[in-house]
Amino acid sequence: MVASRPAGTPMSKIERALTLTPGGSSKSKEEKIFVTVRVRPLSKKELVGKDQAAWECADRQTIIYKGPPQDRAAPTSYTFDKVFGPSCQTDLVYKDGAKDVAMSALTGINATIFAYGQTSSGKTYTMRGVTESAVCDIYRHMENTPEREFVIKISAMEIYNEIVKDLLQPDSGSLRLLDDPEKGLIVEKLDEQIAKDREHLRHLIGICEEQRQVGETALNDTSSRSHQIIRLTVESRLREVSGCVKSFVANLNFVDLAGSERAAQTHAVGARLKEGSHINRSLLTLTKVIRKLSSEKRSGHIPYRDSKLTRILQLSLGGNARTAIICTMSPALTHVEQSRNTLFFATCAKEVTNTAKVNMFISDKQLVKHLQTEVSRLEAELRSADRVSSYEILIMEKDRKITQMEIEMEELKKERDNACSQLEELRKKMVDNQCGILLTRLKRPESVSHFLGHYSQVKLSR
Ligand SMILES: Nc1ncnc2c1ncn2[C@@H]1O[C@H](COP(=O)(O)OP(=O)(O)O)[C@@H](O)[C@H]1O
Ligand SMILES: [Mg+2]
Repeated sequence: MVASRPAGTPMSKIERALTLTPGGSSKSKEEKIFVTVRVRPLSKKELVGKDQAAWECADRQTIIYKGPPQDRAAPTSYTFDKVFGPSCQTDLVYKDGAKDVAMSALTGINATIFAYGQTSSGKTYTMRGVTESAVCDIYRHMENTPEREFVIKISAMEIYNEIVKDLLQPDSGSLRLLDDPEKGLIVEKLDEQIAKDREHLRHLIGICEEQRQVGETALNDTSSRSHQIIRLTVESRLREVSGCVKSFVANLNFVDLAGSERAAQTHAVGARLKEGSHINRSLLTLTKVIRKLSSEKRSGHIPYRDSKLTRILQLSLGGNARTAIICTMSPALTHVEQSRNTLFFATCAKEVTNTAKVNMFISDKQLVKHLQTEVSRLEAELRSADRVSSYEILIMEKDRKITQMEIEMEELKKERDNACSQLEELRKKMVDNQCGILLTRLKRPESVSHFLGHYSQVKLSR
């Protein structure tokens, strides 16, 4: 089951505009759908039929009608974000017309690339190349961003006669669309697979391509009446070390639309409108939605719910997504009416404004894991803090004892010095006393010999 999550336009603009708010959501940015036109070379059939090229790319943004004079009211010059001439390679169409939008999915912004044009104008040819290049760039980005962990999921569906089929599970039958109040639109039971790596993703895209080709051969021109959507869901988050639990999630849709001549037919009046089998409700509703969204007063009701395609891609049409539309056309004069219809559609589409924002989410599992890690970290911090403080107390106690002992030593030294000086004084006094006695006795001659004997004894005892 795949939820149609909120999705996004050119990278340079987005990088400037999308600032994350503390709550995790981001400011949304208004931006017009990026519209380009690709003119393919004249086909073999057209060349054999001596058809002429009626269109010329005057510069990188202008396409001019060069055929014989026709309807005077019809414009002869059209301007778009980019135009690509017949010699232009798909690589350049991708780089200048889709890459910027597609890569926003890596930063959490929904993105959709449409190919619109009449049958055989080059939609599938262009989308195949664009998808391939986008897959290469996605994996290159993942390799160059080791600090983030990415998960790429793929789902694919085909809408034919308002029946949605799973291109990855062809036997699953018709799929229902459900409105989920939280997740938005859900394609019930749509298979979604995780791409293990680039090769696995290419393989899964290959399965979708095969499925489409089977449809083409089995049901005559099914492919020109069916819409194919390959949806990549890109989830990414910063790796564990950062402790960040917010993840980006965005859908990247590659849409190969049904041949636009079907839409032109449905504009026909009277009997042709009743040809139920030819009416492609999804394509008709898409053109209606684009026209309503592009009109100046877009406040009125937008008929998204009138078709499966517009319900599934509602976010990409005036909603939370960046959208690029590549309109493909044949240069042949014989197709000029169809090409004008395509250019009219493209002119309306470039007036449609989307409001893309970065989609962030916090999964319960990630949050629980993050909180557990945080608790363990704080516990460890607390334990080591205890250990540190007990060491500190011990050291302080020792320091205090050392200081006390130094003071005591100082006092003892002073006491010792006092005792020494007292002793010296006592000795002096004793000597002085003995000298006094001696002088008194010397005044009496009979005592001299006795004194001398005594004096020599005192000297010897010292
Ligand atoms: N830009 C191009 N350069 C060369 N060949 C192209 C180009 N675009 C389309 N073709 C060829 O024209 C034919 C019809 O293209 P396709 O993509 O199947 O048209 P669509 O999907 O619009 O019906 C295919 O054979 C395809 O290889
Ligand atoms: Mg095709």
